[in-house]
Amino acid sequence: MATDESAWWRTGVVYQVYPRSFADSDGDGIGDIPGLIAHLDHLGPDGLGIDAIWLSPIYPSPGLDLGYDVADHAAIDPIMGSDGDFDRLVREAHDRGIRVILDLVMNHTSDQHPWFAASRASRDGARADWYLWRDPASRDPGGRPRPPNNWLSFFGGSAWTWEPTRGQFYLHTFLPGQPDLNWRQPAVRAALYSIVRGWLARGVDGFRLDVFNAFLKDPDLASNPVVGAAARPWDRQIHVNDKDQPDLAYLLDQFRAIVDERKGRMSVGELFEGGPETAARYTSERHLVFDFSLIEQDWSAEAFGRAIDAREAAFGPDRWPTVVLSNHDRSRQATRLGTVRMRADPDAIAKAAAVVLMTLRGTPFLYYGEEIGLRDVMIPSSEAIDPPARTAGPRFPWWNRDQCRSPMPWAPGPGAGFTTGRPWIRLGVDHEVRNVACQAADPESVLETYRRLLRARRANPTLCSGRFARIDSGNADVLAWTRSHEDDQALVLVNFTGDPARVAPVGVRGPWRPLAGTHLSWPDLPAGGLPLTLRPYEAVVLGRVQTALAQSG
Ligand code: GLC
Repeated sequence: MATDESAWWRTGVVYQVYPRSFADSDGDGIGDIPGLIAHLDHLGPDGLGIDAIWLSPIYPSPGLDLGYDVADHAAIDPIMGSDGDFDRLVREAHDRGIRVILDLVMNHTSDQHPWFAASRASRDGARADWYLWRDPASRDPGGRPRPPNNWLSFFGGSAWTWEPTRGQFYLHTFLPGQPDLNWRQPAVRAALYSIVRGWLARGVDGFRLDVFNAFLKDPDLASNPVVGAAARPWDRQIHVNDKDQPDLAYLLDQFRAIVDERKGRMSVGELFEGGPETAARYTSERHLVFDFSLIEQDWSAEAFGRAIDAREAAFGPDRWPTVVLSNHDRSRQATRLGTVRMRADPDAIAKAAAVVLMTLRGTPFLYYGEEIGLRDVMIPSSEAIDPPARTAGPRFPWWNRDQCRSPMPWAPGPGAGFTTGRPWIRLGVDHEVRNVACQAADPESVLETYRRLLRARRANPTLCSGRFARIDSGNADVLAWTRSHEDDQALVLVNFTGDPARVAPVGVRGPWRPLAGTHLSWPDLPAGGLPLTLRPYEAVVLGRVQTALAQSG
């Protein structure tokens, strides 16, 4: 299968950089763009060999939600670097064949954004209806205004905050410092679209759309239906009126047409809650949608098998999914998947998960640090930075996202090569040994496993874009699937357990040769390749031998 350059959004691997935590060039303890540029070789063809980087927000921001509260969508936060640094990043990334995807946060702005400052100042100014303002539903006996409806903030409490200057409430699906934009106001759409065009003109290759399915709300702002008990107040409502509105499709078409004005550009929408069916429904050519169902599974063949089948059924052969096992909002793979079982080896599971990530059908998104098996870093509640974590308690359970945002350890030493100063958030306790330099020197490391897998993908395009089929491995603890294109076929076997597992996959025809896997050495492959016995947590990618040329390779 020839590699088609314009299909990079399907065939490529996207690496998520959390810029604050990637590399600090000036010693202030916060990662920045020059730091990222200095480490591009880790990502480029001589390193991991990824195809694109997605940068979590780099715009000016008061930082209440660590950049997801944007004060100017068209500029670079000075803490991250200068405009010139950004343009150099795009150039230097492109020189290495790496595309650049920006995080567009367009559901809301910061309350420090000039648009909101103007909007909150008066009911009749030019930007008066750029946000969602409403009169109180009523007043309580003490004369205090009651919110217009029952909507909740995902970050806790009511979604409405009272603004005395206007004598009205404004809506915020997240923090009060993140007021929601009024996407039904054409001037708001025009302003946002012109920002999108501006970044495209600067050479940006695509966008991740933050919580895109919340852009539109029910025009009458009707209350959500309330359901019974659930641990999180958010889950006690059915969110039919504050997201997923029918006319969103029209809006997405508008946005996509702008991205498609330039060849080879793409977008990926962050689905704000919803299963694979919803993700598939919003997916289209060059416009992906995150389906988080895999992130939610326990490490077992049964759980992953079920989730994979459900995704495949939802997306069908014509829609292209993403593969996501971690991001800046969720517990890291090695911790989440690797510590649930007694005596499990988190690195072994991280390597097997790497095989899953790189060989399922869909565009893989790899979160920084996963390639060295980084763990969640415990942050005492007194040090919590993540805003909802600071208000969490029994009435508002919240997983502290600080834990998956620790600085990237590059080398042994006090600041782990991340900073010469004091890191903005704690480093992992194991950074002296778990870092890029140490793992690059160890052929059995998680990092070297990722490198081998990415090389195998490049050498075998069927692994990136071939048809997908799950097959019976002959062992309930081992998942098996094939990727096929014409006569070319790859077979993937993943042992989810800490015990050796004998597999005799049904319905495939060898002979097979190894392409990549979790272990440096190969399991004993009989002539023809199967049946074989996988070692604990071993995963292998086999390629069908079809020509004399392939046999000698
Ligand atoms: C998305 C981001 C998350 C952020 C939220 C509000 O879910 O991934 O980090 O807090 O949007 O912008």
